[in-house]
Amino acid sequence: MSNPSLLILPGDGIGPEVMAEVRKIIDWFGAKRGIAFDVSEDLVGGSAYDKHGTPLHDDTMAKAQEVDAVLLGAVGGPKYDVLDFSVKPERGLLRLRKEMDLYANLRPAQCFDALADFSSLKKDVVAGLDIMIVRELTSGIYFGEPRGIIEEGNERVGINTQRYTESEIDRVARSAFELAMKRGKKLCSMEKANVMESGILWREVVTEVGKEYPEVELSHMYADAGAMQLCRAPKQFDVIVTDNLFGDLLSDAAAMLTGSLGMLPSASLGKPMANGRPKALYEPVHGSAPDIAGQGKANPCACILSFAMALRYSFDMGAEADRLEAAVEKVLADGVRTADLLNEEGRTPASTTEMGDAVVAALDASL
Ligand code: IPM
Ligand code: MG
Repeated sequence: MSNPSLLILPGDGIGPEVMAEVRKIIDWFGAKRGIAFDVSEDLVGGSAYDKHGTPLHDDTMAKAQEVDAVLLGAVGGPKYDVLDFSVKPERGLLRLRKEMDLYANLRPAQCFDALADFSSLKKDVVAGLDIMIVRELTSGIYFGEPRGIIEEGNERVGINTQRYTESEIDRVARSAFELAMKRGKKLCSMEKANVMESGILWREVVTEVGKEYPEVELSHMYADAGAMQLCRAPKQFDVIVTDNLFGDLLSDAAAMLTGSLGMLPSASLGKPMANGRPKALYEPVHGSAPDIAGQGKANPCACILSFAMALRYSFDMGAEADRLEAAVEKVLADGVRTADLLNEEGRTPASTTEMGDAVVAALDASL
């Protein structure tokens, strides 16, 4: 049997730096655990635009469809702000999500013990926090038609459309219920059924799917109230399922509860392929952070933990994922901190490579 295949798309800004550390981790699993991957690398986002005039070359898209999993760094940067909307770096990422049909975006917000002081919320509100946001990723207002900027009378009108079919809601709801079954068996669905018809349909379909999961305690919340509850008492949640736009906002808010965007991974999953593995793309929640790019300051943990999610969700290697996550936790407990995880004056932060090396050392110690 051939090795599982991975396509690495480092992207822009800090993407290549954090991905270099993930490479060390991948190599470690090959050398020390006998888990070898066929790794290939390609361009996405601004770096792809610079070379090909498009943020995602068709060949790269085709490769992404073939591999067992895609690991992406980050896209975007101020250099590309002037580009036409259709070739902006973000379009490359959105094309990957859409064409691979990655409808379920899993965004865990987990507060690491060693970092609980780092949240802007009180420690007891966030200590031990472990929630999972399931964001619908291939439909809704991000992709709905009609869209555009049109002329109407003597002014322009900007148009986007929120649109959800029953089957689109059904499939992401199922992913969320399945996850809830493996976790705390609690699911909260968020929409705006008070003002949006798509929200009414969302609530109906989620309720219907819920009948097949009687063990899961299902609740519904308007997304604005959900945002408030996330800040007030986040530990009331286990799994949250929501649409594309609300999920974008709520997952950033949830990420910040943990105090450290540099720590949070994500998985975007689609339908199973012929080999039974889901179509999958893994990426850190943080962006390309152009302000610190190229300076060795970036925290590679979110990208490393995204690889851990790949081990868990694409390769059925839960124990190895646990090992990697524990290694990251140990490094934090030992006090290793990149600049984003430091607020004490006068302490020298660990560099991106030092953080990666510390995780490799912790992996060695785990054997
Ligand atoms: C995210 C990002 C993207 C989104 C951008 C980069 C297109 O904010 O993954 O949350 O809006 O989905
Ligand atoms: Mg976002």
